[in-house]
Amino acid sequence: MNIVVIGVGYVGLITGLGLSHLNHKVQFVDIDSEKIKKLNNKVPPFYEPKLDEYLNDEVVGKNVKFSDNYDEIFWDNVDVIMVCVQTPSLDTHEVDTSFLNKVFEEIQDRSNKDTVICIKSTIHPEALADVIKSSKLSEESLIFNPEFLREGTAFSDFFNPDRIVIGSKDELNAKKVYELYSGIDSEVIFTDPVSSQLIKYLSNAYLPLRLSFVNEASQIIKELGGDLTQTLQGIGMDKRIGLEYFRPSPGWGGSCFPKDVAEVVSISKSKELDVPLISSILKSNNQHKSWFAKYLEKIKVEKNYINIVLIGLAFKENTDDLRHSPTIDLYNKLNNGNVFVYDEYFKSHESIKFISELPNKSLIVEMYPLDKKFQTKIEKEIGNLNEYEYIKFWE
Ligand SMILES: NC(=O)c1ccc[n+]([C@@H]2O[C@H](COP(=O)([O-])OP(=O)(O)OC[C@H]3O[C@@H](n4cnc5c(N)ncnc54)[C@H](O)[C@@H]3O)[C@@H](O)[C@H]2O)c1
Repeated sequence: MNIVVIGVGYVGLITGLGLSHLNHKVQFVDIDSEKIKKLNNKVPPFYEPKLDEYLNDEVVGKNVKFSDNYDEIFWDNVDVIMVCVQTPSLDTHEVDTSFLNKVFEEIQDRSNKDTVICIKSTIHPEALADVIKSSKLSEESLIFNPEFLREGTAFSDFFNPDRIVIGSKDELNAKKVYELYSGIDSEVIFTDPVSSQLIKYLSNAYLPLRLSFVNEASQIIKELGGDLTQTLQGIGMDKRIGLEYFRPSPGWGGSCFPKDVAEVVSISKSKELDVPLISSILKSNNQHKSWFAKYLEKIKVEKNYINIVLIGLAFKENTDDLRHSPTIDLYNKLNNGNVFVYDEYFKSHESIKFISELPNKSLIVEMYPLDKKFQTKIEKEIGNLNEYEYIKFWE
């Protein structure tokens, strides 16, 4: 099929490269000329495992085109336009639809009556309704195909999804999107637009809720002197609970969970629903980060360490995405002069002090499991240190 992917961020680029690997013709357009320039030189615009490999893949190379100009795209015979632009939160916690608005302005006169507009951005139908109203596009041409890939394992998630969700008011258009994924073996849920987006939003509320539960449980276990790993294993071995996604951490972050939880709360409020559990997920995460900061300060004082070193600046392993990174929050909460960040990929960031070697007399905190190469480097450095403590909170 002929596809146009709008937005070469984490979702658009990975999805488009995945589809081109399945032999679809994919034209990418993004207003960020720097990103497009890099892609035309086969340089990844961000870090994602295997991105380099797919950019240099022979099949992909034959099927893709990157542009920063909508007029350079061949719009004739485009079967599907995939909209993958960002949908951040406004200060009011409502979703910011301005990026979608601009995209709709660009495509309304370029798409033809048979083109399916496939919305991969996370946006709920009520918010999108206003965007559609102010454009010439019809509701029937829109298909909601929410994305569930995780940064750090994005290609593997693209080719092995737990489910593909297609929300639509038009059966033929839904089928067209289904055909896009014919090379992928997955359960497919055909549903209406509202349900499709609620699958996405409520999944993104449940997952951080689970992480926050584990983190609150960790506080209780630590304060009572229990063994964190054994206790959590003992809980998760109950099949109704499960061990997947049950890892304690200094806090969770990222580009999606914080904004999507805020949006679920905002949608609920607009419907005058009282949802105390979901409403407290963000608060729980903030409190956990504060608890963790105090936990570190206490160890530092008790054991007379001079420095606290946080290892890993991104919001989790195997990505360079800094959006809502718990490391940045923790750094700010701890900021008393002797707090540093150590990272192999990042050496600078506004108002953060980096170090290039681990110092003596330090409380060293690995924020998330690091990749083997970095881990080996750190182990070597640690061999030369005296008076230090190395914390991996999830162990
Ligand atoms: N990042 C994730 O892991 C993830 C996972 C699932 C779903 N999502 C959802 O997918 C959407 C995209 O997320 P992302 O992380 O890929 O965003 P991103 O910020 O990484 O990328 C968005 C891209 O869209 C481009 N863009 C903005 N306006 C444009 C326009 N008018 N025309 C062309 N390009 C434009 C930006 O320049 C940017 O490159 C969001 O709604 C997000 O909630 C993200």
